[in-house]
Amino acid sequence: MSDLVRFGVSLEKELLDKFDLLMKKKSYTNRSEALRDLIRQELIKKEWQEDEEVAGAVILVYDHHKRELLTKVIEIQHDFQKLIISTQHVHLDHHNCLEIIAVKGIARDLQKLADTLRSIKGVKHGTLSMTSTGGKI
Ligand code: NI
Repeated sequence: MSDLVRFGVSLEKELLDKFDLLMKKKSYTNRSEALRDLIRQELIKKEWQEDEEVAGAVILVYDHHKRELLTKVIEIQHDFQKLIISTQHVHLDHHNCLEIIAVKGIARDLQKLADTLRSIKGVKHGTLSMTSTGGKI
């Protein structure tokens, strides 16, 4: 376990009030945990910006009845197979599918995979949730 260091932070009361309000809304019980998460979020942003090895999830919603869409989604996943850890396919209703693709690799490559999948005709929505492999945060 890493050493715990205490430090004092000075900031304007108005800003602290806003922070406390935000913290409450996000269900944090103490400032330290809220601050830790904010710092980690910035570190993760940096990992992605500096093209490091990162992790994430591509989430797609599509109508599987669209011609050739499913074939394309599968083909692209095979092309990027080295980046994909696992895929979960959920049938939302008669038409719509939700696909969650867990990914790990160099940030730029993951972004490219997400963009390629998102741009397939018939994909209604696609997002890339960007996180860290955990080693540097
Ligand atoms: Ni389905």
